[in-house]
Amino acid sequence: MARRALITGITGQDGSYLAEHLLEQGYEVWGLVRGQANPRVSRMRRLLSDVQVVRGDLLDQGSLISAVERVQPDEVYNLGAISFVPMSWEQAELTAEVTGMGVLRMLEAIRVCSGASRGSAASGQIRFYQASSSEMFGQVSETPQTERTGFHPRSPYGVAKAYGHFLTQNYRESYGMFAVSGILFNHESPRRGTEFVTRKVSLGVARIKLGLATELRLGNLEARRDWGYAGDYVKAMHLMMRAPRPEDYVIGTGRMKSVRELVEAAFAAAGLDWERYVVTDQALHRPAEVDLLCADPKKARAQLGWEPGVSFDELVAMMVESDLRLLSDGADPDDASWP
Ligand code: NAP
Ligand code: GDD
Repeated sequence: MARRALITGITGQDGSYLAEHLLEQGYEVWGLVRGQANPRVSRMRRLLSDVQVVRGDLLDQGSLISAVERVQPDEVYNLGAISFVPMSWEQAELTAEVTGMGVLRMLEAIRVCSGASRGSAASGQIRFYQASSSEMFGQVSETPQTERTGFHPRSPYGVAKAYGHFLTQNYRESYGMFAVSGILFNHESPRRGTEFVTRKVSLGVARIKLGLATELRLGNLEARRDWGYAGDYVKAMHLMMRAPRPEDYVIGTGRMKSVRELVEAAFAAAGLDWERYVVTDQALHRPAEVDLLCADPKKARAQLGWEPGVSFDELVAMMVESDLRLLSDGADPDDASWP
């Protein structure tokens, strides 16, 4: 019989790639979707016609219990979150509720539905994946960051993710649940939300190249990130869930680039000189910045056999080409962000 997966956040970047990957692996895939008429669901349906939908919201405990009871999943992937870091300062309480407390509600739904009790080995029960983040490292205490590096989150988002991370470990230890966290570093794609810097840059380049804009306004160009391709990273999520033991893993490329290098590469991919178009804007700087993030993915390579397949330059070129195509076709990038 096909394994059944329930994905929260299926309308997001990672949810779409993970659903595709699990369908390819022969899974029956269900997505938890919120709202009465979530416009992203129709896009998801176009792309992923085989996915089934169940209504629910990470803010609503009862809806999660009902979803787990209805779907009877073998595996739950909790990708739903307020995921844009600047928004977490503007709506800190909402971020705590969705990104932090949402993890508790999902774990409780699984615990209640699978009858796990304190200290019992809940083998054979529902497996749980938590989308943890390198933002938890924040002001890093060492470089590169491993599964043992301490956390010093710098945003309400990072703090909420740290809560979800520790809670996932705690449910594993308290109830014997197969509960794992993937500490994923930044991963991008043509489906990335337009508010994140890589997509903002690839779209900005495409607009300038096509004569639709004359400048691109950005914040801190000196921040450094470990950027990989989302299609590679969802495979790591699945590998963690099929591993013999529940453990947490750092997932990244091990290579760091600055926002400035990202900008240079993206403009160069379209044959443009970035210095003629990029304007820096103090208003786009963050109240507390994460200066650098760089993964040490050795454990994932050794234990899961996971390796990133797409390089930084290939990723940037892929995103710029995709946005050039999208805008040339006259599409609205926010409406058609799933090529
Ligand atoms: P994304 O594109 O922003 O997607 C977020 C998803 O969360 C959307 O499907 C959204 O659904 C859903 N959501 C928001 N509020 C919800 C609620 N109250 N109840 C249920 N679902 C809700 O994020 P992503 O880039 O795919 O990232 C997936 C996960 O990985 C997130 O948890 C993110 O924090 C984490 N992460 C991402 C990265 C990265 O670089 N991409 C790195 C580390 C960790 P709607 O359509 O309803 O808005
Ligand atoms: N978004 C944005 N817009 N970022 C900018 C800009 C801009 O105009 N200018 C400079 N930056 C810098 C930010 O200050 C930050 O240092 C870096 O670019 C990356 O910003 P984002 O792309 O917004 O991603 P993030 O690193 O804050 O968070 C992403 O990665 C995390 C994993 O490390 C998100 O996907 C999080 O959900 C994820 O957990």
